[in-house]
Amino acid sequence: MNQPHIIINCAMTADGKIAQPSGKQLRISCEEDMERMYKLRNKYDAVLVGIDTVLSDDPKLTVKDKYVENPRQPIRIVLDTHCKTPTNSLVVNQAAKTLIITDKECNKKYNDNVEIIQCETDKEGYIDLNKLLKILFNRGIKTLMVEGGSTVILNFLKQKLVDDMYVYIGPMIVGGKDTPTLADGNGIKNIGELINLEIVDTYRLGPGILIHYRMIK
Ligand SMILES: NC(=O)c1ccc[n+]([C@@H]2O[C@H](COP(=O)([O-])OP(=O)(O)OC[C@H]3O[C@@H](n4cnc5c(N)ncnc54)[C@H](OP(=O)(O)O)[C@@H]3O)[C@@H](O)[C@H]2O)c1
Repeated sequence: MNQPHIIINCAMTADGKIAQPSGKQLRISCEEDMERMYKLRNKYDAVLVGIDTVLSDDPKLTVKDKYVENPRQPIRIVLDTHCKTPTNSLVVNQAAKTLIITDKECNKKYNDNVEIIQCETDKEGYIDLNKLLKILFNRGIKTLMVEGGSTVILNFLKQKLVDDMYVYIGPMIVGGKDTPTLADGNGIKNIGELINLEIVDTYRLGPGILIHYRMIK
């Protein structure tokens, strides 16, 4: 297959939430999970998030040398159809290369580590993931870690593009019917579209649990 091997990595609460009710970042992972996540990032060619995660969390998406000796920084990818990534956001800092995926030309001036890649959109107006994955594969990205948020995760799952998914479940409850969950966006339209997973393994990690799922395609 001419597309990268894809995993999703995400942390959620016992009630399936991945952020505060306001959408602001919530630290769910324990120290052991942080270490696992940074080691995974270090192994992958690229890490990917949606623009709304950049706007709400301002993540760096790099590997910290506190967790990995001599880190090898993955390429950072932002799905950002309308080129909203602020020029001062941490995801476009000098620490690693960043690809911003848009569907049109972008006049913003980023530093030399940042490349704007144009990609067609799908019928929902989102970046067409199948087309994007071909572009990334042809650029040598053979492994991709999708980190969120909810809309991006659902779209990767709905389109059956994911190989494995790692979900850390922290023993806490946030509540709130509009609080972001693991998979929001436009859910399935009918039961035939149900996204089926199998559990490969479960692990106790600090106070929580890590579940390794594989996608049934
Ligand atoms: N706990 C965790 O592990 C974790 C990790 C990451 C994020 N989060 C949380 O997730 C929340 C953000 O999630 P979100 O669902 O609001 O936003 P998101 O998934 O980060 O970004 C969604 C946006 O990305 C753009 N996009 C472009 N192509 C897309 C495609 N093919 N599929 C999906 N999106 C595409 C769209 O905006 P445009 O149309 O403008 O391009 C879309 O609205 C935040 O609250 C954050 O804290 C939690």
